[in-house]
Amino acid sequence: MPLLIRNGRIVTSTDDYTADIYCEDETITRIAPGIDSRDLPPDTDVIDASGKYVFPGFIDPHVHINLPFMGTNAIDDHASATKAALAGGTTTIIEMICPGPDDEPAVAFSTWANMAESLACCDYTFHLAVVRFDELAKAQLRELVSGDGLASFKVFLAYLDALDVSDENLFELLTMAKELGVITTAHCENAVAIDRMQKRLVAEGKTGPEWHEPSRPRGVEAEGVNHICSFAELTGAHVYAVHTSCEAAVRRAMDARLRGVNVWVEAVIPHMILDKTYAEQENFEGAKYIMSPPLRERTEQEILWNGVRGREISTIATDHAPFNFKGQKDMGINSFTEIPNGMASVQERVDLVHTYGVCTGRIDLHTMVNACSTEAARIFGMFPKKGAIRVGSDADLVVYDPSDVGIFSVETNLSQIDYCAYEGMQRRGRASVVTLRGKVVAKDGQYVGEAGTGVYIPREPTHF
Ligand code: URP
Ligand code: ZN
Ligand code: ZN
Repeated sequence: MPLLIRNGRIVTSTDDYTADIYCEDETITRIAPGIDSRDLPPDTDVIDASGKYVFPGFIDPHVHINLPFMGTNAIDDHASATKAALAGGTTTIIEMICPGPDDEPAVAFSTWANMAESLACCDYTFHLAVVRFDELAKAQLRELVSGDGLASFKVFLAYLDALDVSDENLFELLTMAKELGVITTAHCENAVAIDRMQKRLVAEGKTGPEWHEPSRPRGVEAEGVNHICSFAELTGAHVYAVHTSCEAAVRRAMDARLRGVNVWVEAVIPHMILDKTYAEQENFEGAKYIMSPPLRERTEQEILWNGVRGREISTIATDHAPFNFKGQKDMGINSFTEIPNGMASVQERVDLVHTYGVCTGRIDLHTMVNACSTEAARIFGMFPKKGAIRVGSDADLVVYDPSDVGIFSVETNLSQIDYCAYEGMQRRGRASVVTLRGKVVAKDGQYVGEAGTGVYIPREPTHF
């Protein structure tokens, strides 16, 4: 059924104007003021967007759904996570495939792809974590890039003996990535330093969640960012530092950029909204807020918002990695080192950025769209199919009501997690209608689409 969105204030990363948007066969085919609905097919679905913004569908470039990690698995499946994403205005996600050290990359890719194909409600693509790197793995990585639309790798410098990559393999992988034009996303924290500091703290009887941050201080992260940038400089590879939480880490990336290194920086919404006092709450409540890198001092939040405003930080993602408080986070009741790392934010991200970024004057609407949609599309090879409102782009659109106020709560969250990290916080603005390739899939925080209609977005390598 064709779709007409009338009279909305269209806001993209660069433009701001009022017009109608007409969509047929999954794409935007006309943008003009005053399109006369009498000239359109009679079955056209008409949405009145007067008084509302119309944004390009938001893109979350850092999501975990199937995440076997720290002795458990994240609690969402591809249906619940992607319904939550759509309800919050996110129409495309990039999920991290995280295989174990013995798993073949090709098998991991098809495992994740099969899961997503049957259940995903929003569009999706993948970063593939390179954990195994023998000759078979190397050959499979090349085939996935040439034949399966894989265009980004992931490396973990953290998580010793679980997911971390050796320097020997990192250097060779980045050399290969450069040759293939693949961008490498990196979790930048020094695994050995964290391991030693965790052991020291636990030996001193410091076992509660409040010791998680001291076990991986800012210097550990800055070292990680410097490390990936140094290797990128030596190999010519393009790299993307994920979930950068503090000034010291951002500065290392900016120093490298000044030297000519092709590095992009991601911030994630938990670090921008919450500070480390949340993880210091009593009665093990702090476990809800354990993620890595950890929540930092409040002063770091302004650095991140300013970095987004100045475009030093390219993207705001979520690092959605939901673990229940009961039955999962409590695996670490005797030691913070056993608390599964991660938080859920895929539904809340856009509203949090609008409420605490735009409404407070920290960033403008163009910067919001750029950081939450357009830059991810550009960096990861999906622009202008995604991340834009143009004739020919996918009709992924968010009709956003800035006057809708409420609170964030587990009661309204479509993720399967048993708590909301932002419980009780004020929300200003909400997606009133979300379309995915021309079909209405969410309304006023509810998923209203047909299950499983998300599709895989294959990508071409562009980072030569
Ligand atoms: O704490 C986090 N970030 N959990 C998910 C895994 C990762 O490191 O991204
Ligand atoms: Zn990470
Ligand atoms: Zn992550």
